[in-house]
Amino acid sequence: MARRILIASGKGGVGKTTISAGLGEMLAELGASVCVVDFDFALNNLDLALGVEGKIVYDLYDYLSGRCKLRQALTQVSEKGNFYFLSTNKVSFDCYDEDQIKETIMKLSAIFDYLIFDCSAGLSPAFKLGVQLASEAFIVVCPSIFSLKDASIVKNYLISQNQKDIGLIINRIRGDLVACGQMLNEKQIEDILQTHVVGVIPESDGCITNGNLTTVCESSEAMRCALKSFAQNVMYGKTLVFDYLSKYRGLIGKIRAKIKKGA
Ligand SMILES: Nc1ncnc2c1ncn2[C@@H]1O[C@H](COP(=O)(O)OP(=O)(O)OP(=O)(O)O)[C@@H](O)[C@H]1O
Ligand SMILES: [Mg+2]
Repeated sequence: MARRILIASGKGGVGKTTISAGLGEMLAELGASVCVVDFDFALNNLDLALGVEGKIVYDLYDYLSGRCKLRQALTQVSEKGNFYFLSTNKVSFDCYDEDQIKETIMKLSAIFDYLIFDCSAGLSPAFKLGVQLASEAFIVVCPSIFSLKDASIVKNYLISQNQKDIGLIINRIRGDLVACGQMLNEKQIEDILQTHVVGVIPESDGCITNGNLTTVCESSEAMRCALKSFAQNVMYGKTLVFDYLSKYRGLIGKIRAKIKKGA
């Protein structure tokens, strides 16, 4: 039975899709079979984040309408490894029968080691279905007060639904600002949300400039390292997070932080 990981957030645009794609790629590189499932029905960019936008033929709706087999509804993300994507881009969530989605997820659970559900922000009906199907949940936050406030609402919802396995992913953290005391660090965020941190992902210039031209993991070396540590924590139950402050320690580091902050 696959581990079924829900990627959620309170606030939109904090990086759920980026992280779902990156986690999937890294888990597959570590040897697992992975399927990333689009739980942001009809509104997702997961195909772009995975670099498969031109490859999708069938999606979940085609399968449930009898137009293809389940295997055909899956898009292979990379030739290497066992890494697939299930798109739901064609129609909105209202057009689906929830029981049929549940049944399909259970079938996929028997095939893969990991299913990753890339959800929409907040407490949408699709997210709520994802919560019922997930074996664990990660909440993505950015180090901002709005993101943390909304994340605590999602956390409370998860707890109310008996989801006990909840972790935090801090995305878009900036070492230069944390080093100068101008951004919350991961310990402070962990304290505020009372949830353990499983991944810390730095702000990455490459991720912004490259957009859909590369896969998430190709976008910058720091991003790749951070996603790899996160995937290792998920797979092996480790607690090591990416050291985003290493560049900003010592005299040279302080100079670097000042220059970066001023840029
Ligand atoms: N670590 C990062 N560094 C820089 N840019 C990032 C990072 N993570 C995500 N982004 C950028 O932020 C934007 C939003 O990311 P993404 O689409 O993954 O968020 P989301 O939470 O899935 O959004 P939505 O709530 O709309 O589904 C994208 O342009 C993405 O490239
Ligand atoms: Mg998204």
